Amino acid sequence: MKKILVVGSLNMDCVVSVPTMPAPGETIMGSGVDFIPGGKGANQAYAIGKLGGQVQMLGSVGPDALGETLKANLAAVNVDTTGIVVNQAEQTGQAFITLDGQGRNSIIVIGGANQSLTTEMIDQFKQAIADSDIIVMQLEIPLEVVMYVKEYALSLGKTIIVDPAPATKDIPTEFWNGIDYIKPNETELALLTNREGTSKADVLAGARELIAKSVKNVIVTLGEAGCLLVTKDQELTFEPYKVEAVDTTAAGDCFIAGLALSLSKSEKIEDAIRFGQQVSALSVMKKGAQTSVPSIAEMQEKWG
Ligand code: RIB
Repeated sequence: MKKILVVGSLNMDCVVSVPTMPAPGETIMGSGVDFIPGGKGANQAYAIGKLGGQVQMLGSVGPDALGETLKANLAAVNVDTTGIVVNQAEQTGQAFITLDGQGRNSIIVIGGANQSLTTEMIDQFKQAIADSDIIVMQLEIPLEVVMYVKEYALSLGKTIIVDPAPATKDIPTEFWNGIDYIKPNETELALLTNREGTSKADVLAGARELIAKSVKNVIVTLGEAGCLLVTKDQELTFEPYKVEAVDTTAAGDCFIAGLALSLSKSEKIEDAIRFGQQVSALSVMKKGAQTSVPSIAEMQEKWG
């Protein structure tokens, strides 16, 4: 099995459950609050570890109890946490999540220590990059750091997976060069490619634009419509796995984890996408980010 390195964010999620989302200026009564380990990078590393992958995480937390809890949670599923730096000057990242009765969420992230990651810190862990086969990144750490890691990983011929979330408009053209797999949802793709719409035609045009910028595989997740793989030579649609959604938080992270884990076993891209969909589908049936990641036994029971 190939080794996976996740470079990214760790957040403690403060999840407030509400019947419906409050409108601007409105006060409503919530039904409860939970503190759940999260952060896009940590969620992905956690899911890979829980599902039996060989995974290390590079990231940064503050010198506080939240950071300790997040590291311990990763270590509990065999994620190598030796590359998680404690930044004495910052607080651990936090995400404030409002979860409505239909399983939909809105998220505000306070980056904290995640935003303090620098290229100099990455230099201390170049060996970890060299020792890994697959590098997984998201955009909750400084873009400069993501690009620095990508360029170094590219020079070593590593497989690079990027989850472009949270998406932003100001991505320089050179960012895309050499990325092996990118997984935006249709809204993120529209933002990344400066498009207004999210119709099938918009999605295809956006994906082809990224292929033209030297991304090798663009996987666009389409929510209840499944997902689409676009490469230089093909466009392939994947039917969704239908489940009862309780909370979609970290569904995309679980997809990325499944994809990376399957690729680490040298499985075909089609199988890796289906496995990612299955991990993601099971995750939305439970509340929270890392609390919703299925076990190997749950995966086998549901999908065989
Ligand atoms: O992708 C879900 C994650 O986004 C949450 O866990 C939250 O921490 C934010 O980073």
